[in-house]
Amino acid sequence: MAANIDVLFEPANLGNLQLPNRIVMAPMTRSFSPGNAPGEDVAAYYRRRAEGGVGLILSEGVSPNMITATGTRNVPNIVSDEAKAGWKKVITEVKAAGGMMGLQLWHEGPYRNPSKTAHAEIPSWSASGVKVPGKQLWAPMTDAEIEIATEEFVSGAVTTKALGFDCVEFHGAHSYLIDSFFWDQTNLRGDQWGGDWVGRTRFACEIIRRTRAQVGPDFPLIIRLSQWKQQDFSVNTAATPDEMLEWLSPLAEAGIDIFHCSQRRFWEPAFSGSDLNFAGWAKKLTGKPSISVGSVGLSGEFTAAYAGEISEPASLDDLVKRMEAEEFDLIAVGRALLQDPLWARKIREGRDNELAAFSKDALTTLS
Ligand SMILES: Cc1cc2nc3c(=O)[nH]c(=O)nc-3n(C[C@H](O)[C@H](O)[C@H](O)COP(=O)(O)O)c2cc1C
Repeated sequence: MAANIDVLFEPANLGNLQLPNRIVMAPMTRSFSPGNAPGEDVAAYYRRRAEGGVGLILSEGVSPNMITATGTRNVPNIVSDEAKAGWKKVITEVKAAGGMMGLQLWHEGPYRNPSKTAHAEIPSWSASGVKVPGKQLWAPMTDAEIEIATEEFVSGAVTTKALGFDCVEFHGAHSYLIDSFFWDQTNLRGDQWGGDWVGRTRFACEIIRRTRAQVGPDFPLIIRLSQWKQQDFSVNTAATPDEMLEWLSPLAEAGIDIFHCSQRRFWEPAFSGSDLNFAGWAKKLTGKPSISVGSVGLSGEFTAAYAGEISEPASLDDLVKRMEAEEFDLIAVGRALLQDPLWARKIREGRDNELAAFSKDALTTLS
């Protein structure tokens, strides 16, 4: 018999964030914003997910500047007047449908390919100019560049709040700019921005602390983290629970409210000797609420989807078991919600026979 999915639809009272249920739409880059400003079609796309009963929508990654933050075509920013107006339209539509939404701030760092941008002469930013461990492509960021990047993140978060979003998420995962500081294979700095965990978390903490000072105590700040790296799915930022504590506790002290712990498969344990996944450990170690993610409701994981793998609908039993045990507080759902804006409602109403397999077509449409 299928597990009772009611736990997914209990309200979540997470300090400064109150949600109607536990389902979060995962941040997903869509590249449907010509001129880097989201249009009516993007607003309608998010509104459909709010109408479908998602508890909290997280936006696609949004650039905090117009030059170094992205090399990906048609990715929206939060800097130009057109982009700000577009995001205002998005949040207005989502609110009109009774939804809640946060914006994800994403600086690609070493994953920006300068040659694919209008500023090919400007090197990409990262902790040490290292994209693949052992291979230095650019100069390490200067102190002045770190200061600019910090202020751009803060300014993006302040704008997010001013536009009426319910929270902001800093993308600190998947090898991008902030993560390039966390991981000791891409942060080789000997100054205050590198070295031990205090040094490697300093950039993120500076962003969080300054944001907190500007947005006040009530505006929820989320950080997305991953143990895995784009360069290598098998590596871990933190090798042990003790290291994870050294990684996460400075971020919590700086003002993070919720940890969003990215995994490709949510059921995989973070460390041997315990079933707890990354979000489970983050909650246990910091006492902060956490979000898990990874292949919810689908048979295959997301990086294979880009290569064309089709995922079939899969059981939610293990997810329900973990949520009933309060291992983590919220569950983010990516591809299932790309495929079907009504996924949450269909799950809730037991309409499992209406759930479709995930196909690559959903990556290239904005339905
Ligand atoms: C099309 C697509 C775009 C994505 N873009 C982002 C992004 O902008 N920021 C981010 O943190 N993760 C991004 N991800 C990862 C998702 O947020 C999520 O962690 C991943 O898809 C696993 O969830 P799923 O198995 O439910 O799809 C993306 C995933 C997909 C499929």
